[in-house]
Amino acid sequence: MTVKRPAAPMRTLMGPGPLDIHPNVYRALASPVIGHLDPAYIEVLDQIRERLRMVFQTENHLTQASPGTGTSGMEMCVANMLEPGDRVLCCVHGYFGARIRQMAERQDAAVTVLESEWGMPDDPARIEAALKDGGYKVITLVHAETSTGVLQPMDDVVRLAKSYGVKILLDTVTSLGGVDVKIDEWGIDAAYSCSQKCIGSPPGLAPITFSERAVEAMKQRSHPVRAWYLDAQLLDEYWTGHKYHHTSSSTLNYGLLEALNLIEEEGLSNRIDRHLRNHRALVAGIEAMGLEMFVAPEYRLPSLNTVRVPEGIDDAKVRGYLLETFNLEIGGGLGAIAGKVWRVGLMGYASSPERILFFMSCLSHSLAAQGHATDLKSGLAAAMDTHEKNRLP
Ligand SMILES: Cc1ncc(COP(=O)(O)O)c(C=O)c1O
Repeated sequence: MTVKRPAAPMRTLMGPGPLDIHPNVYRALASPVIGHLDPAYIEVLDQIRERLRMVFQTENHLTQASPGTGTSGMEMCVANMLEPGDRVLCCVHGYFGARIRQMAERQDAAVTVLESEWGMPDDPARIEAALKDGGYKVITLVHAETSTGVLQPMDDVVRLAKSYGVKILLDTVTSLGGVDVKIDEWGIDAAYSCSQKCIGSPPGLAPITFSERAVEAMKQRSHPVRAWYLDAQLLDEYWTGHKYHHTSSSTLNYGLLEALNLIEEEGLSNRIDRHLRNHRALVAGIEAMGLEMFVAPEYRLPSLNTVRVPEGIDDAKVRGYLLETFNLEIGGGLGAIAGKVWRVGLMGYASSPERILFFMSCLSHSLAAQGHATDLKSGLAAAMDTHEKNRLP
């Protein structure tokens, strides 16, 4: 019998993630499957931990790639940092902040929500007013809100958390590996990310890190962590004690290690500069074409760019046209801004000038198909000029 085998189409991925990955990572993903306790594999896990400390800019012992996507990292941080009745301040200015809040509620924590406008970061003055109320154990923040394209400025919130003695739980899903994430300098107690965005490997793993202070607090818990699979200390017994916990995917971890090796080779700060440079080029191009960015310049996230859908344009039709005609994937808006923005990812290996030019050309063509003219020539020139002006030293 002949079995029909579906073949994945060759796309250019420029949405919120996953993004296109480096050929070396594909090669690493084809490594033979080996056992989760094989000495050769334990070496891979050790190297991953070392490289993750480099991207998280931390010395934290409890730093690893947990099984599951970014959401599993979120659940691990929430479940390990909170116990029933703990007061937590959840800052929500987009879709993912709201998901953290739902998880905190499921832990029976005493949740206070601080809602901000979508497209703006959390306001330190409002955070301080809430913290003055006293008794908070944890504050949750989204560093890079993928639903809106906002990068949360960290200095003020870090200062406030310190002065009020509150632990910070930070979502770095769309920042780690593409934007500075300074875990130790900022004094973050728990942070998680994902493998498929700025890190540059496929989805399936969630880098996490916990401070020594957070680990001490875990040891003093009065209730066991409510998720056995995501109990950070049980997982640590596998990562460092090499005791069976779950059947870790050697395939995914070989891929992740190669993606991290590429970051090491490029240099983290060069990589962060590259993300910024490409972001600036895209913004210059988009604006010169006659389109508008959604977020104010001071809060824009280099890895995820939100472009306003022009008046009268059907967002889904444009995205469908891009996919069908050019094999190009970008993201649509979520929640409060569904239909109002496109989300354009420039992350990891896929943060590159050729992708910017390709995207702008395809977008211009798709808009023209709906009768909306753009100045593509000026857009391409502005993008390339800006890219050139921001050349790395
Ligand atoms: C900011 C943020 N947090 C959490 C998640 C959840 O990650 P995942 O879809 O990998 O589970 C995402 C996904 O895009 C995200 O952008």
